[in-house]
Amino acid sequence: MHTSDLFSAPPLDAKQQRMAQLCDVLQHHAHQYYVLDAPEVPDAVYDQWFQELQALEVAHPQWRRPDSPTQRVGGKPLDGFDTVRHAVPMLSIRTETDTESSGAQAFDTRVRKELELEPDATQVEYVTELKFDGLAMNLRYEAGILVQAATRGDGEYGEDVTQNIRTIGQIPLRLRASSALPVPDILEVRGEVYMRRDDFEALNERQRERIAQGERGEKTFVNPRNAAAGAVRQLDPAIAAARPLSFFAYGVGEVRGGVDVATHHELLLALKAWGFPVADLTATTLGAAGLVEFHQRIGSLRDTLPYDIDGVVYKVNKLALQQRLGFVSREPRWAVAHKYPAQEQLTTVLAIDVQVGRTGKLTPVAKLAPVFVGGVTVTNATLHNEDEARRKDVRVGDTVIVRRAGDVIPEVVAVVPESLASAQRGSLFTMPHVCPVCGSVAVREEDEADYRCTGGLFCSAQRKQAILHFAQRRAVEVEGLGEKLVDQLVDAGLIHTLPDLYRLGFTALAALERMADKSAQNVVDALEKSKETTLPRFLFGLGIRHVGEATAKALARHFGLIDALMDATMEQLLEVNDVGPTVAQSIRTFFDQAHNREVVEQLRACGIHWPALEAASDAPKPLAGLTFVITGTLPTLGRDAAKDLIEAAGAKVSGSVSKKTSYVLAGSEAGSKLDRARELGVAVIDEAALRQMLEEPT
Ligand code: IVH
Repeated sequence: MHTSDLFSAPPLDAKQQRMAQLCDVLQHHAHQYYVLDAPEVPDAVYDQWFQELQALEVAHPQWRRPDSPTQRVGGKPLDGFDTVRHAVPMLSIRTETDTESSGAQAFDTRVRKELELEPDATQVEYVTELKFDGLAMNLRYEAGILVQAATRGDGEYGEDVTQNIRTIGQIPLRLRASSALPVPDILEVRGEVYMRRDDFEALNERQRERIAQGERGEKTFVNPRNAAAGAVRQLDPAIAAARPLSFFAYGVGEVRGGVDVATHHELLLALKAWGFPVADLTATTLGAAGLVEFHQRIGSLRDTLPYDIDGVVYKVNKLALQQRLGFVSREPRWAVAHKYPAQEQLTTVLAIDVQVGRTGKLTPVAKLAPVFVGGVTVTNATLHNEDEARRKDVRVGDTVIVRRAGDVIPEVVAVVPESLASAQRGSLFTMPHVCPVCGSVAVREEDEADYRCTGGLFCSAQRKQAILHFAQRRAVEVEGLGEKLVDQLVDAGLIHTLPDLYRLGFTALAALERMADKSAQNVVDALEKSKETTLPRFLFGLGIRHVGEATAKALARHFGLIDALMDATMEQLLEVNDVGPTVAQSIRTFFDQAHNREVVEQLRACGIHWPALEAASDAPKPLAGLTFVITGTLPTLGRDAAKDLIEAAGAKVSGSVSKKTSYVLAGSEAGSKLDRARELGVAVIDEAALRQMLEEPT
């Protein structure tokens, strides 16, 4: 060491001070990052401080604090978990299984009766919370430091999982103190450990890669709750740390000293101030009407939440009233869980069919014994592709878990283990190597999960889908040309290619079974009307692989004329915004085939036309760079018209509200998207405001 270093080296207690300071600073920034989702310093700066603290702790282990952020990860694998006796039992709550609004009404009625309130007495105040679908956890803090985390177990005895729980960034290792809110001597915080849906998907994706690489003992998880439970009960804390968990606080166990609150709402505010995440959607409300409103509002938001919930929870707000209500058979009378219809159910696989999509993609579909799940009766569930079907090992006769969350296509999550042992199982699924509809060869290209029928428009299944795609509202729109009619037309051999549609005529249509003259005339009129279209709609309608609505618009804007597009080279195609090599190649391949060019020519010859487009680059783009979401019914503009206007002004239109949304354009009867916008603080405008924005550049 240099002599000058010797002299400038700080005294040791300064190092100890620096360690304490780093602990505090890191704790603050971890809270900003994990709990508030509002980091104040770049990750690299945090890492730098973290490493500085780590180095100091290695040099001076005697000064390492138990709540140091370096202590989240680490430790050796355990042999098992110690049993912990809860200081205050972890009770469960009564579940209201009536998923209708009446379930909320019934709870309020019971509370009023127990409190002997007269019918005209004031309404009871409630806190309304989400019922998170995870694992209940008790976190014990002594003098503000996390000393123990335990699972609920049987309510009286749980398991000590401190080592794993410390790895959850959202859980403070030390309570945040402030002059307004001192830290209690003992505080047990209760809440739910859960896994976000996006974290769950990413974890399963990683697991799939591991399995594909032949790593032993790895498996994918059935749902976020199972994945969370697996992580919490992991004996190796290093593995637990790699499984992304989150936490919401909703109550307390043992509390000694320094907490002075009169309501559950105040308690939640205190938990927030001590550094715990409390769900933003938590609210206070009055009477049965308030509970019903919350149940309905959250019900419509449910599918858009980043995590799973299986219901909502109502709690009487005033702690004095909670005490008066007390308990019955180990359940509090002051709280209830009000469920939503389950998103997962069990049913039996009757058959596994293969469906042919518009681009020839073959999809295995499980035919199921009808089951009510996620609010509808489900009889089909996708198995995605051959690999998925084989990985999940779904077979005829199996009992399976079906999941339907929101508008997502129902899927088979897993086979229940008992089925796997049964001798009556069908055989392992294999994708047929010929198309089940037209008998053409089905091929699986390298690096692709899907088999495709090579029959093209020779395949009646592809032909039907191609016609439906062309006739849909967002393409050229032939009103009344639905699935049944297309089936009839193709099966009768009346339509081989798209232009055949326009050669049908009244006589051929009216001759079809179950087709009245009036309906036949309607179809003729609709076909006539569809001839007047736009270039983007026409391009989208052609069904070129990888060319969706947005790409069709970009292509139309760029080339202006369809002939220019049909003759464009790869280089020219790649000049278009958002067109990469895959899309460019697909367009080139499409127009290189003589029969596709012939279809375009013939459609034009049949009278399909569109207005010439203006040179795109000259038009002003007052909304460039912005993203809009449209919801509800607008006073004058149709949804498509509004979308066209917004896009023509350079902005994007998206289907769901996120933090990146610039504006939500709302009309009457706007639903969950509007709620979501308010929740995220996204600006909401009406049609008049949109029109103003279009006139004046922002
Ligand atoms: S309160 C005495 N609030 O649901 C009241 N529980 O049986 C104790 N849960 O095991 C529970 N979200 O895991 C409460 N906002 C919430 C909840 C919640 C989920 C779970 C918890 C408990 C079960 C209730």
